[in-house]
Amino acid sequence: MRIVFIGPPGSGKGTQCGLLRDRLAVPHISTGEMLRNLDGEGAVLIRSRIDRGQFAPDDFILRLVSDRLAQPDCHDGYLLDGFPRTLVQAEAFDRALVETAQSLDHVIEMVVDPEELVRRLAQRKQEGQRSDDSAIYVRERFLIYANRTTPLLDHYRGKRLVRRVDGMNDPKTVFEGICRAIGLQPHC
Ligand code: AP5
Ligand code: MG
Repeated sequence: MRIVFIGPPGSGKGTQCGLLRDRLAVPHISTGEMLRNLDGEGAVLIRSRIDRGQFAPDDFILRLVSDRLAQPDCHDGYLLDGFPRTLVQAEAFDRALVETAQSLDHVIEMVVDPEELVRRLAQRKQEGQRSDDSAIYVRERFLIYANRTTPLLDHYRGKRLVRRVDGMNDPKTVFEGICRAIGLQPHC
């Protein structure tokens, strides 16, 4: 199965992809994780952008994802967490799917109240895991999500791929909602 996860920062994309990866045995591809793990000289500029909540350039992301999806473990499907994130990326991804005679099965839209998003990211900030969890960058991430990523929902609604999932409950209950939305038995 090929599934794209779309949702604002803190909506649980990474958490739910981890659960679904175990259930479906397909790779969980997080472009955020890939960017945070970049090393080498060329990575410094990109890292400094994403650490402040700014997007990496589309052409860079498209090369990164295209190389990853060409790996053999992606042959039977994958979970995309954080890609595509702009209309340019979504349109390039559509073309790549057509060229490889593949199709997307679902786009999961994670729906979480803004107050809960802020609470989750503030809690993670205390754990000190990510510099982009500082309040000033979190505001920037929400704004960029609203301006550049939410238009993708219309793009995929037009293809009848969007499954809206309530992300407000505990992770296990959210996972059950995702399973139902994509026609899987939650417990087996
Ligand atoms: P990315 O790493 O994708 O960050 P994000 O979209 O801001 O989202 P998060 O990872 O913060 O949240 P999440 O939705 O994964 O939720 P999570 O499960 O972690 O991207 C980082 C940056 O990289 C971007 O800002 C951008 O700069 C750059 N980038 C990435 N992709 C790009 C692209 N395609 N193009 C350009 N730039 C790109 O959960 C969050 C917290 O909540 C955790 O602490 C978790 O434990 C907790 N939690 C999760 N679920 C629940 C629940 N149900 N109840 C309570 N707590 C929960
Ligand atoms: Mg994440």
